[in-house]
Amino acid sequence: MEKVVSLCKRRGFVFPGSEIYGGLANSWDYGPLGVELKNNIKNLWWKRFVQSRDDMVGLDASLLMNPKVWEASGHLKEFSDPLVECKQCHTRFRVNEAWSDEVWWELAKKLEKAKVSDKEKLVQETLKECPNCGAKNKFAAPQRFNLMFKTLIGSAEGKASEAYFRPETAQGIFVNFKNVLDTSRKKIPFGIAQIGKAFRNEITPGNFIFRTREFEQMEIEYFIYEKDWKRSFDMWLLEMKDWIKEIGIDLKKIHEYEHPERDLSHYSKRTVDFEYDFPFGRKELYGLAYRTDFDLKNHEKASGQNLKYRDPETNEEFWPHVIEPSLGVDRTVLAILLDAYDDSVEGRVVLRLKPKLAPYKAAVFPLLANKPELTKAAREIYDELRKDFSVTWDDRGNIGKRYFSQDEIGTPFCITVDFDSLEKKDVTVRDRDTAKQERIEIKKLKEYLRGKLD
Ligand code: GAP
Repeated sequence: MEKVVSLCKRRGFVFPGSEIYGGLANSWDYGPLGVELKNNIKNLWWKRFVQSRDDMVGLDASLLMNPKVWEASGHLKEFSDPLVECKQCHTRFRVNEAWSDEVWWELAKKLEKAKVSDKEKLVQETLKECPNCGAKNKFAAPQRFNLMFKTLIGSAEGKASEAYFRPETAQGIFVNFKNVLDTSRKKIPFGIAQIGKAFRNEITPGNFIFRTREFEQMEIEYFIYEKDWKRSFDMWLLEMKDWIKEIGIDLKKIHEYEHPERDLSHYSKRTVDFEYDFPFGRKELYGLAYRTDFDLKNHEKASGQNLKYRDPETNEEFWPHVIEPSLGVDRTVLAILLDAYDDSVEGRVVLRLKPKLAPYKAAVFPLLANKPELTKAAREIYDELRKDFSVTWDDRGNIGKRYFSQDEIGTPFCITVDFDSLEKKDVTVRDRDTAKQERIEIKKLKEYLRGKLD
Protein backbone atom coordinates (compact mmCIF):
# COMPACT_ATOMS: atom_id res chain seq x y z
CA MET A 1 0.00 0.00 0.00
CA GLU A 2 2.80 2.45 0.93
CA LYS A 3 4.49 1.78 -2.41
CA VAL A 4 1.30 2.60 -4.33
CA VAL A 5 0.61 5.72 -2.27
CA SER A 6 4.18 6.88 -2.86
CA LEU A 7 3.99 6.20 -6.61
CA CYS A 8 0.70 8.12 -6.77
CA LYS A 9 2.30 11.17 -5.17
CA ARG A 10 5.59 10.96 -7.07
CA ARG A 11 4.08 10.53 -10.52
CA GLY A 12 0.97 12.69 -10.21
CA PHE A 13 -1.90 10.25 -9.72
CA VAL A 14 -3.11 11.38 -6.29
CA PHE A 15 -1.91 14.19 -4.02
CA PRO A 16 -2.83 14.91 -0.38
CA GLY A 17 -5.61 17.55 -0.41
CA SER A 18 -4.70 21.19 0.46
CA GLU A 19 -1.12 20.02 0.96
CA ILE A 20 0.54 23.46 1.10
CA TYR A 21 -1.59 24.24 4.18
CA GLY A 22 -0.66 21.03 5.93
CA GLY A 23 -3.46 19.07 4.27
CA LEU A 24 -7.04 18.39 5.28
CA ALA A 25 -7.49 15.04 6.98
CA ASN A 26 -8.40 12.32 4.52
CA SER A 27 -8.92 14.54 1.53
CA TRP A 28 -7.13 13.67 -1.70
CA ASP A 29 -6.75 15.41 -5.05
CA TYR A 30 -6.38 13.59 -8.35
CA GLY A 31 -3.34 14.81 -10.30
CA PRO A 32 -2.73 14.88 -14.08
CA LEU A 33 -2.44 11.09 -14.41
CA GLY A 34 -5.04 10.27 -11.75
CA VAL A 35 -7.72 12.31 -13.48
CA GLU A 36 -7.01 10.51 -16.78
CA LEU A 37 -7.28 7.10 -15.10
CA LYS A 38 -10.45 8.11 -13.27
CA ASN A 39 -12.05 9.54 -16.43
CA ASN A 40 -11.16 6.37 -18.36
CA ILE A 41 -12.90 4.27 -15.70
CA LYS A 42 -16.00 6.48 -15.70
CA ASN A 43 -16.16 6.64 -19.52
CA LEU A 44 -15.82 2.88 -19.82
CA TRP A 45 -18.58 2.37 -17.25
CA TRP A 46 -20.85 4.88 -19.01
CA LYS A 47 -20.22 3.31 -22.41
CA ARG A 48 -20.83 -0.19 -21.10
CA PHE A 49 -23.87 0.41 -18.93
CA VAL A 50 -25.57 3.40 -20.58
CA GLN A 51 -24.62 3.89 -24.22
CA SER A 52 -24.37 0.21 -25.19
CA ARG A 53 -27.72 -0.82 -23.72
CA ASP A 54 -31.29 -0.21 -24.86
CA ASP A 55 -32.63 -0.53 -21.32
CA MET A 56 -30.59 2.29 -19.77
CA VAL A 57 -30.48 6.08 -19.74
CA GLY A 58 -28.27 8.56 -17.90
CA LEU A 59 -28.77 11.46 -15.50
CA ASP A 60 -26.72 14.14 -13.77
CA ALA A 61 -28.59 15.55 -10.77
CA SER A 62 -27.65 18.26 -8.26
CA LEU A 63 -25.48 17.61 -5.25
CA LEU A 64 -27.76 19.76 -3.11
CA MET A 65 -31.35 18.65 -2.91
CA ASN A 66 -34.47 19.75 -1.08
CA PRO A 67 -34.04 18.57 2.55
CA LYS A 68 -37.43 16.83 2.30
CA VAL A 69 -35.71 14.27 0.06
CA TRP A 70 -33.67 13.05 3.03
CA GLU A 71 -36.67 12.88 5.29
CA ALA A 72 -38.53 10.72 2.78
CA SER A 73 -35.54 8.52 1.96
CA GLY A 74 -34.99 7.79 5.65
CA HIS A 75 -31.47 9.24 5.67
CA LEU A 76 -32.23 11.90 8.28
CA LYS A 77 -33.42 9.27 10.71
CA GLU A 78 -31.47 6.19 9.76
CA PHE A 79 -28.23 7.20 8.09
CA SER A 80 -26.16 7.23 11.20
CA ASP A 81 -23.43 5.25 12.86
CA PRO A 82 -23.64 4.22 16.50
CA LEU A 83 -20.30 5.13 18.05
CA VAL A 84 -18.76 4.62 21.46
CA GLU A 85 -16.47 7.29 22.86
CA CYS A 86 -13.58 6.80 25.25
CA LYS A 87 -14.01 9.43 27.98
CA GLN A 88 -10.26 9.57 28.54
CA CYS A 89 -8.87 10.22 25.03
CA HIS A 90 -12.20 11.16 23.37
CA THR A 91 -11.62 8.84 20.43
CA ARG A 92 -14.84 7.56 18.89
CA PHE A 93 -15.08 4.02 17.57
CA ARG A 94 -17.37 2.02 15.38
CA VAL A 95 -17.59 -1.14 17.48
CA ASN A 96 -17.82 -3.47 14.47
CA GLU A 97 -14.62 -2.03 13.02
CA ALA A 98 -12.54 -1.56 16.16
CA TRP A 99 -13.60 -4.94 17.62
CA SER A 100 -15.67 -7.19 15.32
CA ASP A 101 -19.14 -7.61 13.82
CA GLU A 102 -19.91 -10.35 16.36
CA VAL A 103 -18.98 -8.15 19.34
CA TRP A 104 -21.17 -5.36 17.96
CA TRP A 105 -24.21 -7.58 17.34
CA GLU A 106 -23.99 -9.11 20.82
CA LEU A 107 -23.69 -5.66 22.37
CA ALA A 108 -26.46 -4.18 20.20
CA LYS A 109 -28.83 -6.97 21.26
CA LYS A 110 -28.11 -6.33 24.95
CA LEU A 111 -28.36 -2.53 24.55
CA GLU A 112 -31.78 -2.84 22.95
CA LYS A 113 -33.17 -4.46 26.08
CA ALA A 114 -31.17 -2.43 28.66
CA LYS A 115 -32.37 0.58 30.67
CA VAL A 116 -30.76 3.92 29.67
CA SER A 117 -28.95 4.09 33.02
CA ASP A 118 -27.37 0.65 32.47
CA LYS A 119 -26.06 1.25 28.95
CA GLU A 120 -22.73 2.77 29.87
CA LYS A 121 -21.87 -0.07 32.24
CA LEU A 122 -22.86 -2.62 29.61
CA VAL A 123 -20.51 -1.08 27.06
CA GLN A 124 -17.67 -0.97 29.57
CA GLU A 125 -18.18 -4.59 30.59
CA THR A 126 -18.18 -5.72 26.95
CA LEU A 127 -15.43 -3.59 25.45
CA LYS A 128 -13.27 -3.13 28.57
CA GLU A 129 -10.15 -1.38 27.25
CA CYS A 130 -9.78 1.58 24.86
CA PRO A 131 -7.86 0.43 21.75
CA ASN A 132 -6.34 3.90 21.46
CA CYS A 133 -5.16 4.92 24.96
CA GLY A 134 -5.64 1.69 26.91
CA ALA A 135 -7.90 3.32 29.55
CA LYS A 136 -10.00 0.72 31.36
CA ASN A 137 -13.78 1.00 31.66
CA LYS A 138 -13.94 4.58 30.40
CA PHE A 139 -16.49 4.19 27.62
CA ALA A 140 -19.63 6.29 27.42
CA ALA A 141 -22.93 4.82 26.20
CA PRO A 142 -23.11 4.67 22.38
CA GLN A 143 -24.49 7.64 20.50
CA ARG A 144 -25.72 7.90 16.94
CA PHE A 145 -24.00 10.37 14.59
CA ASN A 146 -25.71 11.25 11.36
CA LEU A 147 -23.33 10.95 8.43
CA MET A 148 -24.82 13.67 6.24
CA PHE A 149 -22.97 16.91 5.56
CA LYS A 150 -25.02 19.92 6.53
CA THR A 151 -24.67 23.27 4.82
CA LEU A 152 -26.56 26.56 4.59
CA ILE A 153 -28.37 27.90 1.55
CA GLY A 154 -28.69 31.67 1.31
CA SER A 155 -26.36 34.16 2.94
CA ALA A 156 -28.70 36.66 4.64
CA GLU A 157 -28.30 36.52 8.42
CA GLY A 158 -31.00 34.40 9.99
CA LYS A 159 -32.59 33.66 6.65
CA ALA A 160 -30.29 30.88 5.51
CA SER A 161 -31.88 27.46 5.42
CA GLU A 162 -30.27 24.15 6.17
CA ALA A 163 -29.56 21.70 3.41
CA TYR A 164 -27.49 18.56 2.98
CA PHE A 165 -24.99 17.40 0.40
CA ARG A 166 -26.24 14.12 -1.00
CA PRO A 167 -24.80 11.04 0.77
CA GLU A 168 -25.58 8.86 -2.27
CA THR A 169 -26.31 9.67 -5.91
CA ALA A 170 -29.30 7.33 -5.84
CA GLN A 171 -31.86 9.83 -4.56
CA GLY A 172 -31.26 12.17 -7.51
CA ILE A 173 -32.46 9.28 -9.66
CA PHE A 174 -35.58 8.55 -7.62
CA VAL A 175 -36.76 12.15 -7.52
CA ASN A 176 -36.32 12.37 -11.31
CA PHE A 177 -38.00 9.03 -11.99
CA LYS A 178 -41.15 10.58 -13.42
CA ASN A 179 -39.27 13.17 -15.50
CA VAL A 180 -37.09 10.49 -17.05
CA LEU A 181 -40.03 8.16 -17.62
CA ASP A 182 -42.10 10.86 -19.33
CA THR A 183 -39.28 12.05 -21.58
CA SER A 184 -37.53 8.79 -22.45
CA ARG A 185 -40.66 6.63 -22.72
CA LYS A 186 -38.77 3.62 -21.39
CA LYS A 187 -40.67 0.52 -20.34
CA ILE A 188 -39.65 -1.54 -17.34
CA PRO A 189 -37.31 -3.24 -16.95
CA PHE A 190 -35.07 -0.22 -17.46
CA GLY A 191 -32.39 1.61 -15.52
CA ILE A 192 -31.23 5.13 -14.81
CA ALA A 193 -27.50 5.57 -14.30
CA GLN A 194 -25.59 8.40 -12.71
CA ILE A 195 -21.97 9.20 -11.91
CA GLY A 196 -21.27 11.87 -9.35
CA LYS A 197 -19.98 13.00 -6.00
CA ALA A 198 -21.40 11.90 -2.67
CA PHE A 199 -20.52 13.25 0.78
CA ARG A 200 -20.46 11.51 4.15
CA ASN A 201 -19.16 12.81 7.43
CA GLU A 202 -17.33 9.55 8.04
CA ILE A 203 -16.10 9.18 11.61
CA THR A 204 -13.31 6.78 10.74
CA PRO A 205 -12.09 7.65 7.26
CA GLY A 206 -8.74 6.38 6.09
CA ASN A 207 -6.64 3.98 4.07
CA PHE A 208 -5.81 6.51 1.38
CA ILE A 209 -8.74 6.94 -1.06
CA PHE A 210 -10.61 3.89 0.33
CA ARG A 211 -12.83 5.81 2.73
CA THR A 212 -13.06 9.57 2.38
CA ARG A 213 -15.67 12.17 3.22
CA GLU A 214 -16.08 13.22 -0.39
CA PHE A 215 -16.08 10.50 -3.01
CA GLU A 216 -17.61 9.55 -6.32
CA GLN A 217 -20.19 6.90 -7.08
CA MET A 218 -21.38 5.19 -10.26
CA GLU A 219 -24.91 4.03 -9.51
CA ILE A 220 -27.76 2.41 -11.37
CA GLU A 221 -31.35 2.20 -10.20
CA TYR A 222 -32.84 -0.61 -12.26
CA PHE A 223 -36.66 -0.56 -12.25
CA ILE A 224 -38.42 -3.92 -12.47
CA TYR A 225 -41.64 -5.82 -11.80
CA GLU A 226 -41.59 -7.10 -8.22
CA LYS A 227 -41.96 -10.69 -9.40
CA ASP A 228 -38.67 -10.44 -11.31
CA TRP A 229 -36.45 -9.25 -8.47
CA LYS A 230 -34.53 -12.48 -7.92
CA ARG A 231 -33.77 -12.93 -11.61
CA SER A 232 -32.75 -9.31 -11.99
CA PHE A 233 -30.56 -9.45 -8.87
CA ASP A 234 -28.74 -12.49 -10.32
CA MET A 235 -28.35 -10.74 -13.67
CA TRP A 236 -26.69 -7.75 -11.96
CA LEU A 237 -24.41 -10.00 -9.91
CA LEU A 238 -23.07 -11.33 -13.22
CA GLU A 239 -22.89 -7.86 -14.80
CA MET A 240 -20.84 -6.56 -11.87
CA LYS A 241 -18.48 -9.53 -12.04
CA ASP A 242 -18.00 -8.97 -15.78
CA TRP A 243 -17.24 -5.31 -15.14
CA ILE A 244 -14.63 -6.24 -12.52
CA LYS A 245 -13.04 -8.60 -15.06
CA GLU A 246 -13.12 -5.94 -17.78
CA ILE A 247 -11.16 -3.44 -15.69
CA GLY A 248 -8.49 -6.03 -14.99
CA ILE A 249 -9.05 -6.75 -11.30
CA ASP A 250 -8.03 -10.29 -10.35
CA LEU A 251 -11.28 -12.17 -9.60
CA LYS A 252 -9.39 -14.33 -7.10
CA LYS A 253 -9.20 -11.27 -4.87
CA ILE A 254 -12.96 -10.67 -5.08
CA HIS A 255 -15.41 -12.24 -2.62
CA GLU A 256 -19.18 -11.98 -2.57
CA TYR A 257 -20.52 -11.24 0.89
CA GLU A 258 -24.21 -11.78 1.58
CA HIS A 259 -25.40 -9.37 4.28
CA PRO A 260 -27.25 -11.13 7.09
CA GLU A 261 -30.75 -9.77 7.64
CA ARG A 262 -29.85 -7.94 10.88
CA ASP A 263 -27.17 -6.00 8.98
CA LEU A 264 -29.25 -4.73 6.04
CA SER A 265 -29.62 -0.98 5.35
CA HIS A 266 -32.97 0.55 6.17
CA TYR A 267 -34.12 0.27 2.54
CA SER A 268 -32.78 -3.12 1.55
CA LYS A 269 -34.25 -6.64 1.44
CA ARG A 270 -31.11 -8.24 0.08
CA THR A 271 -27.57 -6.90 -0.24
CA VAL A 272 -24.47 -8.57 -1.61
CA ASP A 273 -21.12 -6.79 -1.35
CA PHE A 274 -18.25 -7.41 -3.69
CA GLU A 275 -15.31 -7.39 -1.33
CA TYR A 276 -11.70 -7.02 -2.44
CA ASP A 277 -8.56 -8.22 -0.66
CA PHE A 278 -7.06 -4.81 0.08
CA PRO A 279 -3.64 -4.81 1.81
CA PHE A 280 -5.46 -3.62 4.97
CA GLY A 281 -8.01 -6.44 4.87
CA ARG A 282 -10.99 -7.75 2.95
CA LYS A 283 -13.29 -4.75 2.47
CA GLU A 284 -16.28 -3.63 0.45
CA LEU A 285 -15.50 -2.57 -3.10
CA TYR A 286 -19.07 -2.47 -4.48
CA GLY A 287 -22.59 -3.22 -3.31
CA LEU A 288 -25.68 -4.68 -4.95
CA ALA A 289 -28.99 -4.09 -3.18
CA TYR A 290 -32.65 -4.94 -3.68
CA ARG A 291 -34.30 -1.67 -2.58
CA THR A 292 -37.87 -2.93 -3.19
CA ASP A 293 -40.29 -0.03 -3.90
CA PHE A 294 -39.14 1.72 -0.72
CA ASP A 295 -37.86 4.93 -2.30
CA LEU A 296 -40.55 5.67 -4.92
CA LYS A 297 -43.28 4.85 -2.43
CA ASN A 298 -41.86 7.15 0.24
CA HIS A 299 -41.19 10.00 -2.20
CA GLU A 300 -44.75 9.76 -3.47
CA LYS A 301 -46.11 9.90 0.08
CA ALA A 302 -43.87 12.83 1.03
CA SER A 303 -44.17 14.89 -2.17
CA GLY A 304 -47.79 14.16 -3.02
CA GLN A 305 -46.73 13.51 -6.63
CA ASN A 306 -47.73 10.35 -8.42
CA LEU A 307 -44.54 8.36 -8.92
CA LYS A 308 -46.20 5.21 -10.15
CA TYR A 309 -45.59 3.43 -13.41
CA ARG A 310 -48.55 2.57 -15.63
CA ASP A 311 -48.19 -0.82 -17.24
CA PRO A 312 -48.88 -0.31 -20.98
CA GLU A 313 -50.52 -3.75 -21.31
CA THR A 314 -52.68 -4.00 -18.21
CA ASN A 315 -53.03 -0.27 -17.44
CA GLU A 316 -52.27 -1.15 -13.84
CA GLU A 317 -50.43 1.52 -11.81
CA PHE A 318 -47.74 0.51 -9.33
CA TRP A 319 -44.37 1.49 -7.90
CA PRO A 320 -41.64 -0.43 -9.71
CA HIS A 321 -39.19 -2.36 -7.56
CA VAL A 322 -35.52 -1.53 -7.76
CA ILE A 323 -32.21 -3.38 -8.02
CA GLU A 324 -29.26 -1.10 -7.31
CA PRO A 325 -25.66 -1.79 -8.37
CA SER A 326 -23.58 0.82 -6.54
CA LEU A 327 -19.91 1.30 -7.36
CA GLY A 328 -17.38 3.64 -5.79
CA VAL A 329 -15.09 5.30 -8.34
CA ASP A 330 -12.27 5.95 -5.85
CA ARG A 331 -12.29 2.37 -4.56
CA THR A 332 -12.15 1.22 -8.18
CA VAL A 333 -9.09 3.41 -8.77
CA LEU A 334 -7.43 2.02 -5.64
CA ALA A 335 -8.14 -1.65 -6.45
CA ILE A 336 -6.95 -1.17 -10.04
CA LEU A 337 -3.71 0.49 -8.93
CA LEU A 338 -3.03 -2.16 -6.28
CA ASP A 339 -3.65 -4.97 -8.75
CA ALA A 340 -1.59 -3.36 -11.50
CA TYR A 341 1.46 -2.52 -9.36
CA ASP A 342 4.30 -4.92 -10.15
CA ASP A 343 7.82 -4.58 -8.79
CA SER A 344 8.75 -8.22 -9.28
CA VAL A 345 11.00 -7.45 -12.24
CA GLU A 346 14.46 -6.54 -10.97
CA GLY A 347 15.14 -2.83 -11.13
CA ARG A 348 11.85 -1.56 -12.49
CA VAL A 349 8.26 -0.92 -11.47
CA VAL A 350 5.54 -1.69 -13.99
CA LEU A 351 1.96 -0.56 -13.66
CA ARG A 352 0.18 -3.29 -15.60
CA LEU A 353 -2.99 -1.32 -16.31
CA LYS A 354 -5.37 -2.49 -18.99
CA PRO A 355 -4.35 -0.38 -22.02
CA LYS A 356 -7.84 1.12 -22.28
CA LEU A 357 -7.52 2.47 -18.73
CA ALA A 358 -3.92 3.70 -18.94
CA PRO A 359 -3.59 7.51 -18.67
CA TYR A 360 -1.48 7.51 -21.85
CA LYS A 361 -1.92 4.90 -24.57
CA ALA A 362 1.50 5.62 -26.02
CA ALA A 363 4.61 7.73 -25.50
CA VAL A 364 6.44 9.11 -28.53
CA PHE A 365 10.22 9.70 -28.48
CA PRO A 366 12.83 10.91 -30.92
CA LEU A 367 15.80 8.56 -30.45
CA LEU A 368 18.08 11.54 -29.81
CA ALA A 369 16.89 14.90 -28.53
CA ASN A 370 19.52 16.97 -30.31
CA LYS A 371 18.73 15.90 -33.89
CA PRO A 372 16.12 18.29 -35.30
CA GLU A 373 15.16 15.92 -38.12
CA LEU A 374 14.27 13.17 -35.61
CA THR A 375 12.38 15.61 -33.39
CA LYS A 376 10.44 16.92 -36.38
CA ALA A 377 9.43 13.44 -37.58
CA ALA A 378 8.52 12.31 -34.05
CA ARG A 379 6.52 15.46 -33.45
CA GLU A 380 4.47 14.84 -36.61
CA ILE A 381 3.60 11.34 -35.39
CA TYR A 382 2.79 12.65 -31.93
CA ASP A 383 0.49 15.36 -33.30
CA GLU A 384 -1.31 12.89 -35.53
CA LEU A 385 -1.80 10.29 -32.77
CA ARG A 386 -3.06 12.81 -30.21
CA LYS A 387 -6.04 13.55 -32.46
CA ASP A 388 -7.36 10.08 -31.60
CA PHE A 389 -5.52 8.95 -28.44
CA SER A 390 -4.19 10.27 -25.18
CA VAL A 391 -0.42 10.24 -25.85
CA THR A 392 2.64 11.78 -24.23
CA TRP A 393 5.99 13.08 -25.39
CA ASP A 394 9.41 12.48 -23.88
CA ASP A 395 12.86 13.44 -25.14
CA ARG A 396 14.76 13.57 -21.88
CA GLY A 397 17.57 11.18 -20.88
CA ASN A 398 18.26 7.93 -22.67
CA ILE A 399 15.74 5.48 -24.09
CA GLY A 400 16.13 3.07 -21.14
CA LYS A 401 15.19 5.76 -18.64
CA ARG A 402 12.21 6.82 -20.75
CA TYR A 403 10.96 3.21 -20.88
CA PHE A 404 11.34 2.93 -17.11
CA SER A 405 9.47 6.15 -16.58
CA GLN A 406 6.57 5.10 -18.85
CA ASP A 407 6.38 1.59 -17.32
CA GLU A 408 5.87 3.15 -13.92
CA ILE A 409 2.80 5.05 -15.04
CA GLY A 410 1.39 2.17 -17.08
CA THR A 411 1.88 3.49 -20.64
CA PRO A 412 1.40 0.33 -22.73
CA PHE A 413 3.41 1.39 -25.82
CA CYS A 414 6.53 3.44 -26.44
CA ILE A 415 7.15 4.63 -29.98
CA THR A 416 10.70 5.58 -30.96
CA VAL A 417 11.61 7.51 -34.10
CA ASP A 418 15.17 6.77 -35.26
CA PHE A 419 17.23 7.44 -38.39
CA ASP A 420 15.77 4.38 -40.17
CA SER A 421 12.30 5.87 -39.59
CA LEU A 422 13.18 8.79 -41.85
CA GLU A 423 13.89 6.49 -44.77
CA LYS A 424 11.68 3.48 -44.18
CA LYS A 425 8.70 5.36 -42.71
CA ASP A 426 8.42 3.00 -39.77
CA VAL A 427 9.08 3.18 -36.01
CA THR A 428 10.01 0.92 -33.12
CA VAL A 429 7.06 0.08 -30.89
CA ARG A 430 7.99 -1.37 -27.52
CA ASP A 431 5.39 -3.28 -25.49
CA ARG A 432 5.26 -2.50 -21.74
CA ASP A 433 4.34 -6.01 -20.62
CA THR A 434 6.66 -8.12 -22.76
CA ALA A 435 9.39 -5.47 -23.30
CA LYS A 436 9.44 -6.79 -26.91
CA GLN A 437 10.03 -4.37 -29.76
CA GLU A 438 8.68 -4.48 -33.29
CA ARG A 439 8.83 -2.23 -36.34
CA ILE A 440 5.47 -0.78 -37.38
CA GLU A 441 4.76 1.35 -40.45
CA ILE A 442 3.93 4.91 -39.44
CA LYS A 443 0.74 4.91 -41.48
CA LYS A 444 -0.46 1.78 -39.62
CA LEU A 445 0.23 3.10 -36.11
CA LYS A 446 -3.33 4.21 -35.35
CA GLU A 447 -4.76 0.90 -36.50
CA TYR A 448 -2.11 -0.92 -34.43
CA LEU A 449 -2.98 1.02 -31.27
CA ARG A 450 -6.72 0.69 -31.82
CA GLY A 451 -6.35 -3.07 -32.08
CA LYS A 452 -4.58 -3.19 -28.73
CA LEU A 453 -7.12 -1.12 -26.82
CA ASP A 454 -10.18 -3.39 -27.06
N1 GAP B 1 -26.84 3.96 -2.88
C1 GAP B 1 -26.29 2.89 -2.11
C2 GAP B 1 -25.06 3.25 -1.42
O1 GAP B 1 -24.68 4.40 -1.40
P1 GAP B 1 -23.08 2.24 -0.02
O2 GAP B 1 -22.69 0.80 0.20
O3 GAP B 1 -23.22 3.10 1.18
O4 GAP B 1 -24.43 2.18 -0.85
C3 GAP B 1 -21.86 2.37 -2.31
O5 GAP B 1 -22.03 2.90 -1.03
C4 GAP B 1 -20.40 2.37 -2.72
O6 GAP B 1 -19.85 3.69 -2.59
C5 GAP B 1 -19.49 1.49 -1.84
O7 GAP B 1 -19.52 0.14 -2.27
C6 GAP B 1 -18.14 2.14 -2.07
O8 GAP B 1 -17.58 1.70 -3.29
C7 GAP B 1 -18.49 3.61 -2.20
N2 GAP B 1 -18.30 4.33 -0.91
C8 GAP B 1 -19.17 4.39 0.12
N3 GAP B 1 -18.68 5.17 1.12
C9 GAP B 1 -17.46 5.60 0.70
C10 GAP B 1 -16.46 6.46 1.27
N4 GAP B 1 -16.62 7.04 2.46
N5 GAP B 1 -15.32 6.69 0.56
C11 GAP B 1 -15.16 6.13 -0.67
N6 GAP B 1 -16.07 5.34 -1.25
C12 GAP B 1 -17.21 5.07 -0.60
